[in-house]
Amino acid sequence: MNNIMTKYNNFLINLTLSSLLPLLAFLFMINPTPSYLSNLVVFGDPVDCPHPHHHHHREDPDEDDQSVISSICDNFPTNLVPPETTNTSVFCVDQNGCCNFTTVQAAVDAVPNLSIKRNIIWINAGIYYEKVMVPKSKPNVTFQGQGYTTTAIVWNDTANSSHGTFYSGSVQVFSSNFIAKNISFMNVAPIPGPGDVGAQAVAIRVGGDQAAFWSCGFFGAQDTLHDDRGRHYFKDCYIQGSIDFIFGNGRSFYESCQLVSMANPVPQGSKFVNGAVTAHGRASAEENSGFSFVNCSIGGTGRVWLGRAWRPFSRVVFANTVMTDIIAPEGWNDFNDPTRDQTIFYGEYNCSGAGANMSSRAPYVQRLNDTQVSSFLNLSFIDADQWLQPYSFF
Ligand SMILES: *[C@@H]1O[C@H](CO)[C@@H](O)[C@H](O)[C@H]1NC(C)=O
Ligand SMILES: *[C@@H]1O[C@H](CO)[C@@H](O)[C@H](O)[C@H]1NC(C)=O
Ligand SMILES: *[C@@H]1O[C@H](CO)[C@@H](O)[C@H](O)[C@H]1NC(C)=O
Ligand SMILES: *[C@@H]1O[C@H](CO)[C@@H](O)[C@H](O)[C@H]1NC(C)=O
Ligand SMILES: *[C@@H]1O[C@H](CO)[C@@H](O)[C@H](O)[C@H]1NC(C)=O
Ligand SMILES: *[C@@H]1O[C@H](CO)[C@@H](O)[C@H](O)[C@H]1NC(C)=O
Ligand SMILES: *[C@@H]1O[C@H](CO)[C@@H](O)[C@H](O)[C@H]1NC(C)=O
Ligand SMILES: *[C@@H]1O[C@H](CO)[C@@H](O)[C@H](O)[C@H]1NC(C)=O
Ligand SMILES: *[C@@H]1O[C@H](CO)[C@@H](O)[C@H](O)[C@H]1NC(C)=O
Ligand SMILES: *[C@@H]1O[C@H](CO)[C@@H](O)[C@H](O)[C@H]1NC(C)=O
Ligand SMILES: *[C@@H]1O[C@H](CO)[C@@H](O)[C@H](O)[C@H]1NC(C)=O
Ligand SMILES: *[C@@H]1O[C@H](CO)[C@@H](O)[C@H](O)[C@H]1NC(C)=O
Repeated sequence: MNNIMTKYNNFLINLTLSSLLPLLAFLFMINPTPSYLSNLVVFGDPVDCPHPHHHHHREDPDEDDQSVISSICDNFPTNLVPPETTNTSVFCVDQNGCCNFTTVQAAVDAVPNLSIKRNIIWINAGIYYEKVMVPKSKPNVTFQGQGYTTTAIVWNDTANSSHGTFYSGSVQVFSSNFIAKNISFMNVAPIPGPGDVGAQAVAIRVGGDQAAFWSCGFFGAQDTLHDDRGRHYFKDCYIQGSIDFIFGNGRSFYESCQLVSMANPVPQGSKFVNGAVTAHGRASAEENSGFSFVNCSIGGTGRVWLGRAWRPFSRVVFANTVMTDIIAPEGWNDFNDPTRDQTIFYGEYNCSGAGANMSSRAPYVQRLNDTQVSSFLNLSFIDADQWLQPYSFF
């Protein structure tokens, strides 16, 4: 934990991030997709519900109240809530009170300990402002949202406000067999300014083994996705951040994900580097952790490294990934510790785009051949045949 705090003391000196711009302003800048914005402006409002004011013809206040309640829930998509089966329990969350729980945490609290059933927490569209924790005693939990642009869990803890980066997550998952589908995890703490200390703000910490994320969004700036430990799968996800925005010691396979840097733009010709996509934390040769990115894309703003060697045996591979020119020509950083050059494993294979030009890469970076890359290219990297269920499985 001290490591993660001190690593920024070195790094933040170089930062040119402007402070105080709210995260959502950055969303606007880097992802000006109209559909996304129109979804975000409903922030906190009933998403699919008619506005109560449509009932102004009612005279009696009590009657009016009832009509408001019934009209808010009239559009509740009952048909989308999966049925309970012998193998599944369903916990329904709607912030307007149209089903059993109004917060995600209340639903998590209702999941029994050590359940062998799959516990589906079905979450209606909306922005849920709460800090959520799934304890180790509750395996087999699924968060099912309605789309990562319409359903989000949002909080704003920082390293300072939560006794360290590791506890700053808006969502913290400590149990195994966790699944999330069609939902976003966001940390909206102020974006760190140059020299800021203690401003790391995690959107989610994934601290259990065998976790899968399908079409999920991860939004933050510094340290967005804490891919802490265990085997994890990310498919079709959108991951945004600036410094070390995917970090941890997980063994994880990222397939067809969009990685979006929101580091400040750097002036033309400047050699300044102000962010890093990954900071993998493998500490010894005995650990089989690593991040493998296959068929992903990297874009956004700033000038960033593909990875920084948070710990000496840091291991990251990018394959078949399209990279824009935001990638610094040297590609990677050994944490200004040349002794790590012998032990880090940083590889690239068949990538494309202006950022994938390897002619100026740091000397320790490997141009992987077919044999070397094979164990990183498919789901066997995370032993998926032992645990990963298809998307259709709840
Ligand atoms: C429940 O699980 C059992 C054992 O894995 C399986 O045979 C059965 O088809 C499942 N039932 C449902 C409704 O999914
Ligand atoms: C609410 O909880 C009750 C009792 O556990 C259950 O019968 C019902 O199906 C739940 N409703 C929803 C929408 O989850
Ligand atoms: C679940 O386990 C935790 C910790 O082991 C315990 O504190 C809690 O009371 C248990 N909850 C239930 C509902 O048994
Ligand atoms: C529940 O979790 C246990 C271990 O955490 C796993 O063996 C089991 O297959 C899981 N059950 C379901 C339905 O996912
Ligand atoms: C939910 O996720 C699945 C699997 O990644 C994807 O195919 C689907 O389009 C998503 N649905 C919505 C509403 O976002
Ligand atoms: C989180 O937001 C609340 C409400 O705006 C604010 O009072 C609090 O200081 C914020 N916390 C941090 C760490 O920024
Ligand atoms: C975090 O706390 C330290 C020590 O109190 C303080 O110097 C620093 O400004 C704080 N950082 C933020 C982002 O609030
Ligand atoms: C990556 O894309 C290639 C070419 O489209 C495809 O053959 C391969 O199956 C994909 N790999 C993964 C892991 O999705
Ligand atoms: C290399 O990447 C291209 C896309 O740029 C893709 O079409 C091709 O299948 C990839 N080759 C291999 C061996 O994965
Ligand atoms: C790669 O970069 C080198 C040196 O900057 C340059 O000479 C070369 O033309 C570039 N290659 C491509 C394919 O852009
Ligand atoms: C791949 O690289 C390794 C290590 O440099 C080498 O031993 C092997 O012969 C190469 N394989 C191919 C197919 O080029
Ligand atoms: C995955 O890659 C491994 C090589 O590391 C290979 O042995 C295995 O057959 C591949 N599996 C699939 C499904 O392609």
